[in-house]
Amino acid sequence: MPESTDATRLGLNRTGVQMAPHQTQEMLAHMEELEADSSAEMEQDVVDGQALSATRLEYIASADPLGSVPVPGTFKGVAKSGAEMLTGNRPQAFIDKLAERLAFERGGARLYDAVYAKAVAHDTELNKVSAQELLEIRNEEVQHALLIKECLETLGADPTAQTPCADLTGVETMGLLQAATDPRTTLAQTLHAALAAELIDNEGWESLIAMAQKMGHTDMAERFEQALEEEALHLVKVRAWHTALTMETAELM
Ligand SMILES: [Fe+2]
Repeated sequence: MPESTDATRLGLNRTGVQMAPHQTQEMLAHMEELEADSSAEMEQDVVDGQALSATRLEYIASADPLGSVPVPGTFKGVAKSGAEMLTGNRPQAFIDKLAERLAFERGGARLYDAVYAKAVAHDTELNKVSAQELLEIRNEEVQHALLIKECLETLGADPTAQTPCADLTGVETMGLLQAATDPRTTLAQTLHAALAAELIDNEGWESLIAMAQKMGHTDMAERFEQALEEEALHLVKVRAWHTALTMETAELM
């Protein structure tokens, strides 16, 4: 494997303690001194930990929520039929989770744009990974986003609104996108990010199906089942590609 493309090549990495045995000894000796001094010091550690927790609790107590779910247009009498479809005590919780799924699927499409670019850049690995199938997965993520958009509109909700869970999802997935778009990451490393996304996808559809059923939206639940089946297939494929490339890196196949 050429050194420039070998992600696990041996090199001058100074991040571990083995690079500085003398300083490591000094550090450990100092720790022993601290431990010998123990009870008072340990109490101090506990106090520091408590101080940190106390500060966090103060911030939590005074924090506002992430945002709010906008009142659906139907509540204002814009589309009566949609209003009738909003059942449950707190339909806004369903709208929030729909918006979360929309945000994640939209992010998923962007993630696969990055995975596809990485696959093309590492075209020697395309015997293990299908660029065509990557594009198909990407397009299915788009279709899933559009499905949710349609459901939100049926309920009279605004699919462009950033609800609290949609906002949270954006923050959570930022790391996955950064990993995939980093020009230094290999296709295997990029697929690791995609694998995390697919696990979240599968979990997300499952809980949305359960919620739709409980809210009486059986038609939506059925369409979500179809999306879940597609996500299950994404997971199988991405897991297989990731495993194949990881094993190859370790020269185990
Ligand atoms: Fe997916």
